[in-house]
Amino acid sequence: MSTPRYAVFGHPVAHSLSPRIHAAFARQTGIALEYTAIDTAPHDFVAALDRFAGEGGKGANVTLPLKEAAFAISATVTDRARRAGAVNTLSRNDGRWQGDNTDGAGLVRDLTGRQGLDLRARKALLLGAGGAARGVAPALLDAGISELVIVNRSPERADALADALGEPDRAHSRYWADLGDLGDFTLIVNATSASRDGKGEFSLPFGLATPRTLAVDLNYGEAAIPFLAWARAAHCHDAVDGLGMLVEQAAEAFEAWHGVRPDTDAVYAELRDRDKVLVTAD
Ligand code: ATR
Repeated sequence: MSTPRYAVFGHPVAHSLSPRIHAAFARQTGIALEYTAIDTAPHDFVAALDRFAGEGGKGANVTLPLKEAAFAISATVTDRARRAGAVNTLSRNDGRWQGDNTDGAGLVRDLTGRQGLDLRARKALLLGAGGAARGVAPALLDAGISELVIVNRSPERADALADALGEPDRAHSRYWADLGDLGDFTLIVNATSASRDGKGEFSLPFGLATPRTLAVDLNYGEAAIPFLAWARAAHCHDAVDGLGMLVEQAAEAFEAWHGVRPDTDAVYAELRDRDKVLVTAD
């Protein structure tokens, strides 16, 4: 029998750590699998997924900018994917793709478990309304935040996300231009891709932060540096990048595909120390 195939689809995707993470989980649990990265432009996504399924693809992770497209092509979706309107995990069942979203669970597990932070009763600002923001918003509400203010460069996308969440008392949208008038927040989540193109600056009003604020960037590596630098300059209490969430959302997907929950601490520690990763990858 051939080795079961898994992949991460994105555009670009060469930077993705998902192949390393799933390979590490597979070694740890003794499960044989092949996991590759497949660069797919949005217009070619459906055809690429069909080809992958035809070649024995059993499951896929989906990253930017394909998470909303993955939701659209899923024959069935889990409840948390439906609430997000975005899919980051696809499973091939009976010749059809089932869509799930493990981003939110991954974020909350990292923040409350690994980082030991309490999300309850926090007033939250969500910057961005793309696939990443959609993935985490329902889980943040479920984790007990008191309010979710969604601000996006294109206001109609923020409105659409607020509408989809269906909790007008807790979740609503505001204009990016009004960021200076929104008061302060005890949780600020950067779900934009603004720093992913290598542009350095991240300019937000310092008045958004308090000395109790938890600032979270869903990005990791260099893309997280500008927002976390802003958070430190604004004297936020905690500044966390998205590496832990990445490992936790991968563990959720791994469990859904293979029925085994991998231990994430060792993989997280490896990735924090990139030099070590390079050595162990060889
Ligand atoms: P992802 O899956 O990572 O969320 P996406 O769906 O392409 O990727 O969404 C990218 C997000 O980053 C969007 O909220 C986008 O804002 P728009 O909806 O207005 O495009 C946001 N974004 C990208 N570049 C930005 C910038 N320079 N400033 C502010 N927001 C930006």
